Amino acid sequence: MRRHLVALMLLAVCGLHIGADSYPGKVLREEVPRKEAPRKEMPDAVARGRDALRGQPAMNPAMWSASALDRVWRQWGLKEKPADFQRRLRDRYGLHSASYDNDALPMGLHWSRGITGKGVVNDCLLCHAGVVAGQTIIGLGNASLDLQGLFDELSASETLSIKLPFHFSHVRGTIDPIGPVAYLMGLRDADLNVQKPVSLDISDNVCSDPPAWWLLKKKKIRNWTGSVDMRAARIDMVNLLTPFNSSDHIKKQEPVFKDIHAFIMTVEPPRYPFPIDARQAARGRDIFNRACARCHGTYGPDARYPNKVVPLEDIGTDAALALAITRKNLDYLNKSWFAQEKGPEGQDFRIAEQHGYQAPPLDGVWATAPYFHNRSAPTLYNVLNSRTRPKIFTRSYETGKDDYDAINVGWKIAILDESPSPKLHAIERRKIYDTTLPGRSNAGHTFGDSLKEDERRAVIEYLKGL
Ligand code: HEC
Ligand code: HEC
Repeated sequence: MRRHLVALMLLAVCGLHIGADSYPGKVLREEVPRKEAPRKEMPDAVARGRDALRGQPAMNPAMWSASALDRVWRQWGLKEKPADFQRRLRDRYGLHSASYDNDALPMGLHWSRGITGKGVVNDCLLCHAGVVAGQTIIGLGNASLDLQGLFDELSASETLSIKLPFHFSHVRGTIDPIGPVAYLMGLRDADLNVQKPVSLDISDNVCSDPPAWWLLKKKKIRNWTGSVDMRAARIDMVNLLTPFNSSDHIKKQEPVFKDIHAFIMTVEPPRYPFPIDARQAARGRDIFNRACARCHGTYGPDARYPNKVVPLEDIGTDAALALAITRKNLDYLNKSWFAQEKGPEGQDFRIAEQHGYQAPPLDGVWATAPYFHNRSAPTLYNVLNSRTRPKIFTRSYETGKDDYDAINVGWKIAILDESPSPKLHAIERRKIYDTTLPGRSNAGHTFGDSLKEDERRAVIEYLKGL
């Protein structure tokens, strides 16, 4: 079985692609003629986009067979399948129950067809839906996810051992969005045909959290580095790069990604679920407008958002994500089909080199902890007082009201005295955030340090209501 799969995978790498016509995505491609939707049809595009991003219909082939999922508990050191398998499955990998009908699968996984028949694959919501203070929120980055654990243990359950030159993630709630794409792009030429592999730069130390989707409509440029035009749809199609998808299959999904974009533009920030002190918040707004608005913009009736990218040397937060987007990787992507998408003025949406991070809009910021692009600051209080940022910490990874810290605004954590032992099981190790490790620095963004304590508390009160 294992040799069979590896052989098929290699075949795919050599260009004899398989699979792309064997799963439900095909039905969509044949039956729904998709043209640019006229304005009045937008609600349909939104509904199609909402379904597509959760894999309805599936756009990728199954990655793991149904039986690999069903027996994954064997990877947990158990002798028999536990009665509460579904709950343990979610807890182990930081998955959540779906808030929509998902055919008995956790949110972010869906059924598809693959070379081994029916199986599961992830969709956008694995990373882009989460639960905070008991609320399931579509478009919120999943702060609990252990993507590496999910990938490793399902693959082991498939008896498939794939050695990859990158990690999907190093610590829970973060993803490396650069290494996997660089690896998969290197398997393709500029027209996305699978080719003899080219090696692109993989730094294997990047930790990034998925920005909340409700922020996209405020931005002119997107991603933490602000390197992509927010109107671009093709950039999210890197999610289709598995070598089992043909170049043709990928390109035909472009209208689906326009629908997904239309849906994302409708996502609104969730409201803070605890009381807010209105007087304190009004005071906090004045301080915010004085100390923070030049980068983060203003909120309310005359809202303004400056789309400001702050150079690495000025922001001082961890540089690994920005530096991983190297000139070599950029040149390769910018020569490819992904960068030949035309904007309204006929210009190509190319990916820009940015040595900095964009100050994000702060709408719904109460929900997006831990903070900064690498999730190194557990609460807003830690963001605004850099001296209090914990060096090594962990948390329950549960997401109820009791796990939420409504005073400092973010997650309740436990501070640890030392770095995790290398002997600790990888699943446990990835629960510990160690800011001394590459990609995980909690330095920089010291703009709140000079505030007085009561001013800082007032700013936090204001931020709760954004
Ligand atoms: C494996 C996790 C993962 C999956 C799956 C995933 N994303 Fe993301 N997404 C991320 C991360 C991490 C970032 C931040 C990347 C960066 O800034 O460098 C991101 C960024 C984005 C952004 C930019 C948001 C902003 O405001 O800047 C959009 C839009 C987006 N993803 C859409 C999608 C869509 C649509 C899908 C499904 C087709 C998808 N993503 C699948 C992890 C994921
Ligand atoms: C010079 C521009 C600048 C100023 C001034 C500034 N920030 Fe920021 N802020 C940034 C940038 C850039 C980031 C993203 C850094 C990163 O993630 O690496 C950020 C991130 C944040 C975050 C984390 C957002 C998230 O989703 O993780 C919060 C909260 C925040 N800032 C609040 C404030 C407040 C409150 C003030 C005023 C006291 C302030 N900032 C002043 C540029 C600025």
